[in-house]
Amino acid sequence: MNKFFQQIEAALLPTAIHYAPEGSEPRAIVHQWIHAIACESKPFAAQRGANIKKLIGILKKEQLYTDAASFKNKLPSTPIKPPKESTFTFIDLFAGVGGMRIGFQKAGGTCVFSSEFEKNAQATYAENHGDYPFGDITKIPVADIPDHDVLVAGFPCQPFSHAGLKKGIADTRGTLFHNIANILEAKNPKVALLENVRGLISHDQGYTLQVILKTLIGMGYNCNIDREIIANGTPKQLQAEAKKMVLKSVDFGVPQNRQRIYIVLWKGRLAKQFEYPKASHTSTRVGSILEDNPDSKYTISDRLWEGHKRRKINNGINGKGFGFSIVNEDSPYTSTISARYYKDGSEILIEQKGKNPRKLTPREAANLQGFPKSFKYNKSDVQAYKQFGNSVTVPVIAALAEQIMLVIRKGK
Ligand SMILES: C[S@@+](CC[C@H](N)C(=O)[O-])C[C@H]1O[C@@H](n2cnc3c(N)ncnc32)[C@H](O)[C@@H]1O
Repeated sequence: MNKFFQQIEAALLPTAIHYAPEGSEPRAIVHQWIHAIACESKPFAAQRGANIKKLIGILKKEQLYTDAASFKNKLPSTPIKPPKESTFTFIDLFAGVGGMRIGFQKAGGTCVFSSEFEKNAQATYAENHGDYPFGDITKIPVADIPDHDVLVAGFPCQPFSHAGLKKGIADTRGTLFHNIANILEAKNPKVALLENVRGLISHDQGYTLQVILKTLIGMGYNCNIDREIIANGTPKQLQAEAKKMVLKSVDFGVPQNRQRIYIVLWKGRLAKQFEYPKASHTSTRVGSILEDNPDSKYTISDRLWEGHKRRKINNGINGKGFGFSIVNEDSPYTSTISARYYKDGSEILIEQKGKNPRKLTPREAANLQGFPKSFKYNKSDVQAYKQFGNSVTVPVIAALAEQIMLVIRKGK
């Protein structure tokens, strides 16, 4: 952060405190406001009286503002640069460390609001994007969220009550999906991208996905599954159709066998124009993400290695899957990195000649999710593994965002 930025932060903080929702830091509001002033867009809490003129007035008093262009020029450039020419705006919910944000910025999007409630992820997000995210989304008044073209959310998968599907949005109360639906209803963005584990398709025998899609089509959104199948199809039919929304990271040049569901929703007829990105068909190799001289601390101990091997034998006997997974630089891909990777690294071990295998380094975990080299990961290895395991594969998001941008541009 440069000195100018610190001075603006200090000038706006006393006002921001009045607008901070429970669970969000006032500096999240300050950062959003700075962005809104620079881009001459609506600030957070505009409905409650926060307005750009008033905020500029505060800055002028402190001689921190003369005109929009010089204000923008003096702001620091963040490690992950926002686009110069913006074609659309988006909000980044359940933001983690902002993998989705990087992909959407690449396609020309400007992020106007972000929310993530875990402190370590917030810090990594702020360091890389120059923007401290708002906190708990369940505590943020929907009307305060700025207008946007695209809502982006990689939300946790939770079951819905089986009390019956009658009231639409109200049936989803008590889940984080309900908060997303409320924002969509109030803000009416053209597009939403909801990312989730592939297991969402079979979660609660298909009921969870059915409730999500029924709620969304009830609100006027469409996706690449026929409305009739969503409204009246069997859970089996819906599950078969939902496979069209699954993308694999390895198909986008990244050597990881990660499969995720990406639900792309469009207001009205635009859904017909949207096409999911096609697989790039480039061959992948684990060697492409490995570092040259990893620290010896990533080599697993004899005790851990013996434990992994023992569990593999026992799991085989009990028919419980395969246990650890080991690859070398010539393997085409690794298995999926998860938030629990920090525990024992069992899902991805790297073979080493004449030594026990090793874990990925945090930098390699970042590479495996396609994060740019400039991305500054958390100093704690545990946090870095958790954050990249929880995150998205950036090139997959960038490819999706590019396809979304093409439709938005045509519609403008
Ligand atoms: C699967 S991760 C999403 C990662 C993100 N899309 C990325 O690119 O890094 C889900 C995130 O949602 C956050 N989260 C869960 N409940 C939340 C809430 N009520 N408010 C804000 N964030 C929440 C978690 O801390 C977690 O980081």
